[in-house]
Amino acid sequence: MENSMEKIISLSKRRGFVYQGSEIYGGLAGTYDYGPLGTALKNNLKDLWWRKFVLERDDIYGLDAAILMNQDVWKASGHTKGFADPLVDQSGKTRQFNMMFQTHVGASEEDSAVSYLRPETAQGMFVNFKNIVDSFHPKLPFGLAQVGKAFRNEIAPRDFLFRLRELEQLEIEYFVREKDWEKSFEEFRKLMSQWIEEIGINPKHVHELEVPDGERAHYSKRTIDFEFDYPFGRKELYGLAYRTDFDLKAHALASNTDLSYVDEETKEKIVPHCIEPSFGLDRTVLAVLLEAYTEDELAGEKRTFLRFSPAVAPIKAAVFPLLKNKPDLIKKAETVYKNLKKEIPEITFDDNGNIGKRYRRQDEIGTPYCITIDFETLENDSVTLRDRDSGKQERVKISELTSKFDFLR
Ligand code: GAP
Repeated sequence: MENSMEKIISLSKRRGFVYQGSEIYGGLAGTYDYGPLGTALKNNLKDLWWRKFVLERDDIYGLDAAILMNQDVWKASGHTKGFADPLVDQSGKTRQFNMMFQTHVGASEEDSAVSYLRPETAQGMFVNFKNIVDSFHPKLPFGLAQVGKAFRNEIAPRDFLFRLRELEQLEIEYFVREKDWEKSFEEFRKLMSQWIEEIGINPKHVHELEVPDGERAHYSKRTIDFEFDYPFGRKELYGLAYRTDFDLKAHALASNTDLSYVDEETKEKIVPHCIEPSFGLDRTVLAVLLEAYTEDELAGEKRTFLRFSPAVAPIKAAVFPLLKNKPDLIKKAETVYKNLKKEIPEITFDDNGNIGKRYRRQDEIGTPYCITIDFETLENDSVTLRDRDSGKQERVKISELTSKFDFLR
């Protein structure tokens, strides 16, 4: 495990998962650029999350709020005052350093034009609470979900994708009656564990930590951190917080807007309480890469492979002609590839180098299946389908290939 970070960072760069941000200029600390495979992996994770927490439910509404918000949002939320880390400056004195990135909106440099790159996606959901209630008239409990970038001027960004200055979050603000908060908290606690397992993270590597009094964020009455065993220690992967009615009350007061809700059960005006499951996408990518990274020996040869669950793998299958210099094989392989790609776009074609090398290349980026067109294919329309983890091959009719990818639907 010791040098697994170095191995993953090097594989990520070599194979096009993740590059250092602004690399040719010497980089910019705390930023990374996702290459084609990293982008595909990240998109798969986002899609799976959206499907589980938004599409498959009737009570969670999707949102995509602006990154720049009125500065008063951050005053009300407590971030202008409290989103700070202690910093020891050159005189040796400790001062509080606010981690929000400040910018100016428009040509004016005046204080009134100050805005911030949002440090969490959450506030975009609280300030849209009234809009959603007015447009959709949802019944309690209901939630808002959002996926997007957040920015934190971390004093010491480190550990690859773990502590970034530009990061992506997947967050839900789930509104409940106060009396029901514990029930919803437990529900999301289970759903978060389920999600962790579904994306291929071994639950044994994840530990729930009850965050004690005095260590929770200013808005939280209860927080559970889901910690992961990274090679650099057991640290936070996700958080689940009970934010009470703190945010809606604070925004109602500061904006002078009624953010209450008429409870259809009691006909009373209430301010709902909020349960917040918060997922860092970059930390998810890191944990998924760490879980998937495997070194083994196959047919007497050492190999490195990524044991991604097929649903998160950036490429689902690779199609090969057995030999490059046989026009009949190439033509057939191209036809199989083109037809399959209509059904499964996340596939690739490779005719470069010997077949063993091509398998290794796909293993290294976690492609679950390789499909080889050989001389028998020309006779009976069957191909070999090779499984990444076992290296075992089976013969499959071309007409039956797509059913092997039913897990994608
Ligand atoms: N809205 C609540 C909130 O933002 P948080 O614990 O500060 O809570 C939520 O952040 C999640 O965002 C974390 O669990 C982590 O996955 C991710 N995260 C936070 N800071 C990060 C950073 N500097 N780099 C990468 N991910 C980060």
